[in-house]
Amino acid sequence: MGTTTTPAPSAVALPILADAGIDYHGDGSAEDILRWGLERYHPRITLSTSFKDGVLIHMLSQIRADFRVFALDTGRLNEETYELAEELRRRYGIQTEWIFPRHEGVEKLERGKGLFSFRDSLENRRECCYIRKVEPLSRALEGLDAWITGVRRDQGVTREGSHKIERDQVHGGIIKLNPLADWDQDRMWAYIRANKIPYNRLYDKGYTSIGCAPCTRPVPAGEDPRSGRWWWELAEHKECGIHVQDWSI
Ligand code: ADX
Ligand code: SF4
Repeated sequence: MGTTTTPAPSAVALPILADAGIDYHGDGSAEDILRWGLERYHPRITLSTSFKDGVLIHMLSQIRADFRVFALDTGRLNEETYELAEELRRRYGIQTEWIFPRHEGVEKLERGKGLFSFRDSLENRRECCYIRKVEPLSRALEGLDAWITGVRRDQGVTREGSHKIERDQVHGGIIKLNPLADWDQDRMWAYIRANKIPYNRLYDKGYTSIGCAPCTRPVPAGEDPRSGRWWWELAEHKECGIHVQDWSI
């Protein structure tokens, strides 16, 4: 698998499955989970990518060429993110299903509250994330049996309990695969280098996590990798809403 790194401590503490009723009996490796997912659910399974890197796209391309990919174009992504999307399109032949927010919602938000309302309060930030990510995600997942994400347990307190295979109750109980749940950053980078996988150039500019441009900034060496996301908020609030069961915390 191109790595020698030990999994994060939280990785060994959790079983692969969040739900004993799921019929998976593999070895729990990212590749095996993806293979199981595609064999069982394709074409009603799709990868959700924010174009941080091409790790999952690389793995999926080795299973079948016509795997599906979608991305939420929030309208506030970095140029480097679009550049990586293009690079991966050329390299792997993917045809990303881009999903945009409903224009009425964005227009009302920007006309009423301006272009940076998300800095004013948690409520405003969640409103923006809802319009640009959460609602579009629900459309992206319509009619699917399963989706694949790059969620990892080491991405912060809100992700510590993520399983590799879950039931997504927020989206009608469909299957959610987080094949990299037990990977850490070292393991990601070892895999990227070993397989020469394209990655987002923002990583070369000091970024350690990548989301929307106005809500993400570079992080000084040695600091929490996710501290550059919504840096004005508490760690337990650092979710845009697409991976949360309960947003009231
Ligand atoms: S976020 O909720 O804080 O924005 P994060 O950036 O950590 O999420 O990414 C975790 C996973 O969520 C990604 O690996 C990807 O599966 C999914 N994701 C995040 N942003 C997007 C996006 N814009 N489009 C599609 N999927 C996304
Ligand atoms: Fe809006 Fe920032 Fe959320 Fe992107 S991350 S949807 S710009 S609040």
